[in-house]
Amino acid sequence: MLRDWSDVYSVGIPEIDEQHQGFFAASHRLYEQILDRDAKQGVQEALAFMRHYADSHFQAEEAFMRQHDYPALKAHQALHAAFFARLDALAEDLATFGPSPDLADRALDLTQDWLVEHIADEDVLYALHARSQTADA
Ligand SMILES: [Fe+2]
Repeated sequence: MLRDWSDVYSVGIPEIDEQHQGFFAASHRLYEQILDRDAKQGVQEALAFMRHYADSHFQAEEAFMRQHDYPALKAHQALHAAFFARLDALAEDLATFGPSPDLADRALDLTQDWLVEHIADEDVLYALHARSQTADA
């Protein structure tokens, strides 16, 4: 199910929230392109965009964590790497089997639902850590 961005997903860091909204948009675009039977080229473009967007967003997050000496950086990086492994597997299946509603659902699960859970379970932790540091200073 396509979800709209909501403030409940906010981690309280405007720059990161903005990137998460862009991630959402990239996710929805990928979903819609896979469902669009006439958009073979569009699927490739949407996949490339998703990968590029995720890469620069993850790098920005990891830089933020480093800057704040976040102790669980390595574990968080592993989650980002696992995301790319699943995105690659999806890209391979798209190339092998062609776009289908099943693969569109899988794309939405991997990108939108993954992001929502990742924000709630992981991103909030580095945001809290950064806030506690500022409170100490
Ligand atoms: Fe993250």
